[in-house]
Amino acid sequence: MQRLGFASVYRLTRSCIVASSCSTTAATHPTPILQPEVQHTKIFINNDWHDAVSGKGFPTTNPTTGQVIGQVAEGARADVDIAVRAAREALSRGSPWCQMNASERGMLLRHLADLLYRDRVYLASLETLDNGKPYIDALHDVDFAIQLYQYFSGWSDKVCGQTIPVDGDFMCYTKIEPVGVCGLIIPWNFPIVMQALKLAPALTMGNTVVLKPAEQTPLTALYVASLVQEAGFPPGVVNVVPGFGVTAGAAVAEHMDVDKVSFTGSTEVGRLVQQAAGRSNLKRVTLELGGKSPCIVLPDADLDFSAQLAHDALFFNMGQVCSAGSRTFVQEPVYNEFVERSVELANKRKVGDPFNLATQQGPQVDLDQFNKVMANIKLGSKQGAKLLCGGKRFGEIGYFIQPTVFADVTDDMTIARDEIFGPVQSIIPFKTLDDVIKRANDSRYGLAGAVFTNDLNKALQVAHGLRVGTVWVNCFNQHKVAAPFGGYKESGFGRDLGECALQAYTEVKTITIKVSP
Ligand code: NAI
Ligand code: MG
Repeated sequence: MQRLGFASVYRLTRSCIVASSCSTTAATHPTPILQPEVQHTKIFINNDWHDAVSGKGFPTTNPTTGQVIGQVAEGARADVDIAVRAAREALSRGSPWCQMNASERGMLLRHLADLLYRDRVYLASLETLDNGKPYIDALHDVDFAIQLYQYFSGWSDKVCGQTIPVDGDFMCYTKIEPVGVCGLIIPWNFPIVMQALKLAPALTMGNTVVLKPAEQTPLTALYVASLVQEAGFPPGVVNVVPGFGVTAGAAVAEHMDVDKVSFTGSTEVGRLVQQAAGRSNLKRVTLELGGKSPCIVLPDADLDFSAQLAHDALFFNMGQVCSAGSRTFVQEPVYNEFVERSVELANKRKVGDPFNLATQQGPQVDLDQFNKVMANIKLGSKQGAKLLCGGKRFGEIGYFIQPTVFADVTDDMTIARDEIFGPVQSIIPFKTLDDVIKRANDSRYGLAGAVFTNDLNKALQVAHGLRVGTVWVNCFNQHKVAAPFGGYKESGFGRDLGECALQAYTEVKTITIKVSP
């Protein structure tokens, strides 16, 4: 394994400073690559590219047009087996990865961050092509991924065990060790962020990984795999197996030699992943699942401000966000006016070509998601919610949906209970604070929530009263690299982000040594 010299450390440090200070605004954005060339479509194992054992491929589609971008190798059980063997081998005693100093692991992660920064325009363009999200949002995603690699790189040599004053003549200490081979199964809504969110803490703690990207959006994960190799990670440390959930994903979850699975996606599949772990080797599991996050608007908040934030909370990323503010609770005195402003905002939302820099909303990720959202809209109307705008397909091609607002939604309606994952805002009136906290908690989910108010006492009542993993006050979707994120209840367990995330990728070993009295 080549060790990084001082010159390269200096070079990396300098450019990382540039990377971490970069922020994207519409005014200063770099121009997208309108037709980014797809460079990698094969399975990445042992720092090398492979066809699927079956020889099969599957299409990945551009949701803006509905047209196939290209074929990607279709990994399945046999490919997962090979990838897991490579990941296990990379962890064997005496391997370059095991011998590497912790500080050097951190350095490799910073180098990876650097390479993402070098290629951020290409990566953001590729993400927009494969996923359909507006290019400026994709750039933010790449920048957030860079921050994740940088943040977690710093932890590589800072996680310490304890010395423990046990009774008797013993010296007792704990040692923090990697869990081993980690299976990372990620969704399509923030492909490049999800990848970094799991790769960065897993690698900084010295694990090896088999990553299974979502079948809808495999392209950026494969390109980042090429950067992993360029950064100098030893073979087998990172393996990427694109493929479908029921084949490749299930093979990871059921594998007897995978020590841990970190999954983000639907609650239904989260349940399957946990069952598979129970049936196989009791691998460790962390799950980040669905949500139905309440966004609570109190009358003392500035109405323009809260209407705008509640709008963004729901419509950001075409509504395809686990923490989307998908239940907008508004207190009665300002309810009517709030609804009016929300409809105005939805009507003004710019929908269209995600490569156009003025676009705020692109297509849903695929036809399945498009159909699911349209079915929910139909159900909302049928169950008596008041459809005030949108509700239809936007345009003729691709998977676009008009920004949609429902008012007079009641707690029992399906659109107030199930995750829609689309550009559909549900506005619900309420009378008192106690009432709204109770109703907000009446959900099988517990991912996030928010309150807009200028009254500190009320803000704290809501923040402490909600049974959710994250509460935002006068803001929304403020995901920060250092702040833990994860769910209560059926939104899952375990935390991504921040120091908390390290626990998910470590074991604690206790060592007790008899000493002479
Ligand atoms: P999904 O849960 O099926 O997909 C997420 C990942 O799990 C993908 O990589 C998929 O290939 C994999 N997977 C699927 N079945 C699997 C299995 N049996 N074993 C192991 N891995 C498996 O989500 P899907 O079908 O794409 O979307 C359905 C709904 O899930 C969405 O409408 C939304 O409500 C929710 N969702 C929530 C996300 C979140 O961020 N919490 C992200 C994506 C979807
Ligand atoms: Mg695609």
